[in-house]
Parts: sequence; structure tokens; C-alpha cells
Amino acid sequence: SEIRERFNNLNPKSREDLEKIRIEFLGRNGHVTKLFEEFKSIPSELKREFGKGLNTLKTEIQNKIQEWKSEIESNSTSNVDIDITLQEYPISFGSRHPISLVKNELIEIFKYLGFTVYEGPEIEDDWHVFSALNFPEEHPARDMQDTFFITKGPDVLLRTHTSSVQVRSMEKEDLPIRVICPGRVFRNEAISARAHCIFHQIEGLYIDKNVSFADLKQTLLYFAKEMFGTDTKIRLRPSYFPFTEPSAEMDVSCKLCGGKGCSVCKYTGWLEVLGCGMVDPNVLELNGIDSKKYSGFAFGMGIERIAMLKYQVKDLRLYFENDVRFLNQFKNW
Ligand code: PHE
Repeated sequence: SEIRERFNNLNPKSREDLEKIRIEFLGRNGHVTKLFEEFKSIPSELKREFGKGLNTLKTEIQNKIQEWKSEIESNSTSNVDIDITLQEYPISFGSRHPISLVKNELIEIFKYLGFTVYEGPEIEDDWHVFSALNFPEEHPARDMQDTFFITKGPDVLLRTHTSSVQVRSMEKEDLPIRVICPGRVFRNEAISARAHCIFHQIEGLYIDKNVSFADLKQTLLYFAKEMFGTDTKIRLRPSYFPFTEPSAEMDVSCKLCGGKGCSVCKYTGWLEVLGCGMVDPNVLELNGIDSKKYSGFAFGMGIERIAMLKYQVKDLRLYFENDVRFLNQFKNW
């Protein structure tokens, strides 16, 4: 009890104090260790009680030292063991990239209509990117998309659109085909706020018996309402792509001004969103599909463009810089 009393009156302030105390009581020549030695020589009838008391004392002291240790550690600010570069608790998580968010949302929307995801290679050949899509040799339509060629030969190139995956799905899959193809595409363009040499597209293709332009329009209307809100309107403007006939460009009504006109929609009330059309019978035939029995529609859009409209991002380059101040804004989407 003398030892216990002495111990209980202590009040260590630092690790050094604590280490002295540990040595004084539990060290090789410490008070408690000495008592254990005495234990050997006491009469056997007292051993039981003495031993019990001794063990209790030892545990008490060990526990108290542990308690002091935690106290000292949590109070000390100048502790050399603290790594101030560690992240504070709770550890904050990253966020999904806006392009992934929009891509996933697009996949969900079209999945509901029965489209499945189909992917193809980024490094392609002329056939899959151009020839099978009815771009004739030497046709100026090839210049619509400035191509990166990988070797000096004309046949190894980076795909300029995801339409190449249309071709791959027609090559491999049985009819009917109903696929969406998300992926990276590459064009030799100067990088600016409005253009980049790498971006993402998502392509849709549906081929079956009796697929009509009305099916295309209804599919796109459904998509626009799901993506931009149920009050969204669409309009189709005639356009040209070598692989669709007729071809169109789809606009959605500008949400910001409700179609009245503002700086975002350049005072037109409409925003251009995607290209689309009925698959040209030539393309069906080039890919071994009987164009008398089957018809189809296709559409393709830039994911960055959809994300820009959705999140009001004004500079395309932000998507590729991975600045956390930009990325953190998508945490709660
Ligand atoms: N491939 C076209 C482009 O990159 C988009 C498109 C896809 C148009 C499918 C029509 C049909 O601009």
C-alpha cells in the first residue's frame, strides 16, 4: 500500500516523466519487480493472498501508465512523431469525373430502351472509320474530321468518331442490333476552349425490320427529356453525314432562357446536341446486311458537349486538366 500511495501521487507531464516512472516501478530494479522477488521467500500459507494483491497492483500501475501515455500524446502539439502532411479525419473522398457522370447517365437512359454497351478499339483502320461507313476514297467528307495517322501508311489511325464501333457491331453481332458505344475519339485540331484533340462520344445504333425515322425521333425525344428535363423540346435540322440518309442535327430547347434566347444559346433559343439519321442502305450493304429487309437509325454525340450544357462548363480544357478545384464541384452530383 505504501508503493500504491507513492504511485498515485505522481503526475507525469511528459514522455520522459512517464518513462522514469515506468522504470521506477516496473523496471528490472523497480518496486513492483522487487516485491515479486520477495514473494519467493514468504511463507506458503501467505503466498495466495500476497500474490493476488501483487498482481492487482501490477495491473493497476500498467493501466494507469497507459492512460497517462494517451493523455500526454493527445495533448502534445510539438510531438516529433506527428506527420502534419497526413489528411485529417474524416478522410475526404474524390469525386467522379463529370465525363464519367454524364457517360453513366447516358448509358442508364439508353439501357432503359434496350440498348447495350458495345466497345471497340481506339486505334483503327481505314475500313472501320471511313470506308465501311460510305466515305468514298478521296471524298472531301474525309476532311470533315482531321485524322491522326499513326504510321506513314494510310491504314493505321486513331478513330475520329465512335461510328467505327457501329461497323464492328454489324460485323460481329446478329440482328437485330441495339447498341450504344461510348469511347474516346481523336481529331487533329488546335486545342481551345471549344475544341480539343481528344474527346468522348457516344454512338447509338439500332437495326431491325421496319425501323423508321419516327422511331429515331421518339428515341431522341425520350433521351432529351431524361437528360435535360421533361419540359425539353427538340428540333431536327437537315444535315449531312456519309453514313446516314436522311441525316439531321438535333437541337434541344435552351433551359436557361426557356427558349426565349440568351447568350448561352446565342439568342436562338436552341442548343445543338447531336448528329443522327437513318443508316444509309449503302452502309448496310457494305456490312453484309440486306437493306431490303432491314433498316436502322444511328446517332452520335459528344459527351463533353452534353456535360457542358448540363453543368454550364464554358471551357473544354477543364475536363482534361484534372484540377481538383474543378473536380471537387461534382462531389454531390
Ligand atoms: N459520327 C458523327 C460525328 O462524329 C456523328 C453521327 C453518328 C452522325 C451517327 C450520325 C449518325 O460527327
